[in-house]
Amino acid sequence: PETSWEAFQNKHIDYPRTRASNPSAYCNLMMVKRNLNPIRCKPRNTFINHDNESVLQVCGNGGTRWQGNFYDSNESFPMIDCRYTDGKPPKDCKYKGTETSKRIRVACEEKKPVHLEKLL
Ligand SMILES: *[C@@H]1O[C@H](CO)[C@@H](O)[C@H](O)[C@H]1NC(C)=O
Ligand SMILES: *[C@@H]1O[C@H](CO)[C@@H](O)[C@H](O)[C@H]1NC(C)=O
Repeated sequence: PETSWEAFQNKHIDYPRTRASNPSAYCNLMMVKRNLNPIRCKPRNTFINHDNESVLQVCGNGGTRWQGNFYDSNESFPMIDCRYTDGKPPKDCKYKGTETSKRIRVACEEKKPVHLEKLL
């Protein structure tokens, strides 16, 4: 799991969105660029293509408390959801990418997102 807002941003925020020919190529590129597959291919990862300030706000005014330290974003964010299909770490993990726009549920610590729990 993510341990900090900095780690969360590396794993889950890409804005402006990095250029790639299609969502799957985007995933294959980004998972390497962010070094998310050092020893195994991560089965799934989501990149939010929206500014980090708005995502940060999900733990404050831009979100609604679900339970515990979990907050749901009021608005949907553009994103690419990546799911592993085949290939080997560290550089050849292949993904199927899906472009979508969804609300997010995050865990917050000190008013900052530290874990992306799920897409809503
Ligand atoms: C947003 O990202 C920029 C660029 O990486 C960084 O300088 C800035 O500190 C981040 N903002 C927040 C609120 O973390
Ligand atoms: C987000 O939703 C909550 C609960 O409905 C509300 O209190 C808050 O004002 C909303 N934030 C924004 C920025 O609209």
